[in-house]
Amino acid sequence: MKRLQAAVLISGRGSNLNALIDACKTPEYPAEIVCVISNRVDAAGLGIARDSDIETAVIQHEKFSDRAEFDRAIDQELNSHGVELICLAGFMRLFTAEFVERWRDRMLNIHPALLPSFRGLDPHQQALDAGVRLSGCTVHFVRHETDAGPIVAQAAVPVLQGDDANSLSKRILAAEHQVYPLALRLIAEGRVRVEGERVIITGLPEPAQMVFEPLA
Ligand code: GRF
Repeated sequence: MKRLQAAVLISGRGSNLNALIDACKTPEYPAEIVCVISNRVDAAGLGIARDSDIETAVIQHEKFSDRAEFDRAIDQELNSHGVELICLAGFMRLFTAEFVERWRDRMLNIHPALLPSFRGLDPHQQALDAGVRLSGCTVHFVRHETDAGPIVAQAAVPVLQGDDANSLSKRILAAEHQVYPLALRLIAEGRVRVEGERVIITGLPEPAQMVFEPLA
């Protein structure tokens, strides 16, 4: 089986990276992580990748005079590994429009909110402030606008009374660790296509009909 060659880009903890690595270890999983790139030398996720014998590269943004030069260095690293799809997982740098276009519909991001709600910083606090009863996470193809682009997969979790940003983020993170491997699998199986700015997925089972919060 020819597996989709994926790269994961990180800046920190790497728990989504860990979930993707675990998924790729499952027999028959149709994708493989061929390199992990961090813009920070101290990203904990680098250790997770090394423990699984995945090649890592550190490309520090401070060492480049501008964004375009940094993006070119990332591009070179990706091309040297024959990368077909990029998974951003807590990667805290914005790319130039040229880079985003070059990887159009071949670069994923995960955001801890049900997009298009609560883009940008502090999405958990934004959800709490808005008083929503369901929040969650979204895997989407990257566009130049931050936290926007065709949505591949989402998972919803309840927002509980008494939640703070910390407790809500933990609940959402557990969902992230399931939905990112799901999205990558669907893409690697060749079941995902972008039409206009919407994602069409073939061969899906019947969906759950409704999700209630509260259940009372
Ligand atoms: C996750 O919450 C992800 O949704 C956001 O950044 C965080 C990264 O966490 N984009 P981790 O490094 O994967 O643990």
